[in-house]
Amino acid sequence: MTTSPAIETSGLAIHFKTASGLVRAVDGIDLTVARGAFHGIVGESGCGKTTLARAIVGLQTATAGSVRILGRDRTTWQRDDRKEFARTVQFIFQDPLGSMSRRQTVGQTLEEPLQIHRLGSATERRKKVSELLDLVAIPSTVLDRLPRSLSGGQRQRVSIARALALNPQILVCDEPLSALDVSVRAQIVNLFARLQAQLGLTIVIVAHDLAIVREVCSAVTVMYLGKTAEEGVSKPLFADPAHPYTQALLSAVPSPDPRIEASRSRILLEGDPPSPLNPPTGCRFSTRCPVAVVQCRTAEPALRLVPHTGQAACHLADSGTHPVL
Ligand SMILES: Nc1ncnc2c1ncn2[C@@H]1O[C@H](COP(=O)(O)OP(=O)(O)O)[C@@H](O)[C@H]1O
Ligand SMILES: [Mg+2]
Repeated sequence: MTTSPAIETSGLAIHFKTASGLVRAVDGIDLTVARGAFHGIVGESGCGKTTLARAIVGLQTATAGSVRILGRDRTTWQRDDRKEFARTVQFIFQDPLGSMSRRQTVGQTLEEPLQIHRLGSATERRKKVSELLDLVAIPSTVLDRLPRSLSGGQRQRVSIARALALNPQILVCDEPLSALDVSVRAQIVNLFARLQAQLGLTIVIVAHDLAIVREVCSAVTVMYLGKTAEEGVSKPLFADPAHPYTQALLSAVPSPDPRIEASRSRILLEGDPPSPLNPPTGCRFSTRCPVAVVQCRTAEPALRLVPHTGQAACHLADSGTHPVL
């Protein structure tokens, strides 16, 4: 028997009707996240990462396509048993303060999901809260403090602990590091990596910072204007990206290896991505792609296999001969 993936989206599209027209925020994404994976979703601001993440956890309704969680259709699962779904899949917001009540202490914040789900006696709940604090490595002295009196790093640790209160199997995190100082980002990344290994979690992390994803993720999806540009196993993908967009994103990231850093050529992406109100015809990246040919402006590339890595949506990314800028 094959086990179903943790997350599987099929033809997932989320379009917003606005006064200026239809915004195609997510426009046909087939995403597979394996159980136990640490899966990164990257791309420039506005490419649809948040919308995709919200649709996975059911905070956003899909215009078309489907989301399956652990093999079950998300819509019917949420309709049939919202509480069980919430216990299985948790979402971590970009801004930890915004997702917590300002008047609740850390202790109350952590206990609340247990109360809502009527789990354990008062004593058992207090024990669980102290285990959660241990899990995210913050001292119990913060229990009576309000979230806004904590440092950014501690606040994010509390929001992670809260998400773990119900022992979920899947964590979906929307830019969980962007509100943090650079100095504490590495600590929170390490915390995610430890929790993933220790608890066997499946983690999806949305980030616009490629360096973070390269460091910890086992798999990656690179998005461009609501679509998948490239996806696959992190290590080979970052070592030899097939899509010119991935190459350009990666060229902006400093390498810790001084030899690679010395020879790193920077590919400047000109301008902002085009608007999802009116995406370019053909390949959506063609208007900014340094190697685009005529075909790229007329025909939309399908995802095609890249040996040893995954798939890329580029006409020029034929097996073995993908474009190198
Ligand atoms: N509720 C909404 N109504 C209209 N447009 C939206 C809405 N939410 C997001 N968008 C638009 O969808 C696109 C993708 O947004 P988002 O998913 O937030 O991207 P990212 O997280 O990658 O920055 C953007 O153009 C954004 O302006
Ligand atoms: Mg976002």
